[in-house]
Amino acid sequence: LSEETEQMLSAYEWLTKLYHHLIKYQKDGKDGLEYLKSRGITKETLEEFQIGYAPNKRDFTATFLTQKGYSKPMLLKTGIVAGNDNNEVIDRFRGRVIFPIRNALGRTVGFGGRALDGDSGPKYLNSSEGELFQKSKLLYNFDLAKRHIRKENEAILMEGYMDVISAYQAGVKNVVATMGTALTETQAKLLNRYVDTVIVCFDGDSAGIEARYKAALLLRSVGCEVRLANLDAKEDPDSYIREHGGEAFKEKVLRTSDSYMSFFMRYQRRHFNLQLESERIEYIERVLKELSLIESALEREYYIQELHKEFDLSVETLMSQLAQYQKSLP
Ligand code: GTP
Ligand code: MN
Ligand code: MN
Ligand code: MN
Ligand code: MN
Repeated sequence: LSEETEQMLSAYEWLTKLYHHLIKYQKDGKDGLEYLKSRGITKETLEEFQIGYAPNKRDFTATFLTQKGYSKPMLLKTGIVAGNDNNEVIDRFRGRVIFPIRNALGRTVGFGGRALDGDSGPKYLNSSEGELFQKSKLLYNFDLAKRHIRKENEAILMEGYMDVISAYQAGVKNVVATMGTALTETQAKLLNRYVDTVIVCFDGDSAGIEARYKAALLLRSVGCEVRLANLDAKEDPDSYIREHGGEAFKEKVLRTSDSYMSFFMRYQRRHFNLQLESERIEYIERVLKELSLIESALEREYYIQELHKEFDLSVETLMSQLAQYQKSLP
């Protein structure tokens, strides 16, 4: 590691401790603590994830790091402070709950900062991208989840910090998050090194459904089995767990997650109007094409039966169309 990278790492380490100490013990951290309490986060969880709070002061972080001997350019590099027109450096994360983002080795390489409810500005901020912090290569919580992922031979992929933290607190520990952005090939390959199956458990909104589809394709392309969990439109894993508890999350969300093919059919239904004959046929063709790529004969037969029951087409017809598509495979 370059000297600069080492310096950045130690800056993040200092700040993780500082913000965490503040939220636990100091008046300056009280707003953050109240906020997390209101979201059901326990003391143990606060500890486990080293969650913190950056006080609502413009120069708090800069002053602290300067005292520790950090130069101004270095401060700016971390992305935790920003320069303004008056040549001052201002805390970008002031008044935000701090989620340290650790790499696979457990070292903090960046922060996610959440605004308290009612505050203006973006809901979340991240450290700036650089050698150390590359969101597209990291999965939030991978270091803590790793051994659980191995043990269960299964990883649960979520969108956000709070989703992972809530699940972990509820005893579902093989959880990681993309931090809001689309799953990347690097992340998919990382997961594939550890598990056979990834359960994608994104938010229930339509952005979450579209992201699920893309994540499923990518995960399959790198060799993972995927399952896809369903949540109501207004729910995410965190809100579900808060409302219904961890057991319900395991039994009603994870256990009932869809196979890829079931998800695919459900997903395609959103894009076809099955009331119209022409679209109904297109839909069936689309599903048969996808089925032709499925290796398991059992699985193919199963979904053929489903189509047969739903659309009142003979199994023979469906099978022969499927065979056509299989023949045209490269
Ligand atoms: P809560 O409202 O705290 O429950 O957050 P959430 O995780 O449910 O938020 P959302 O579903 O909107 O976003 C999922 C994840 O995307 C977040 O956890 C963040 O990692 C990321 N994200 C969301 N909004 C922003 C943003 O404005 N900026 C950045 N950099 N990341 C964001
Ligand atoms: Mn979302
Ligand atoms: Mn969400
Ligand atoms: Mn949420
Ligand atoms: Mn509900």
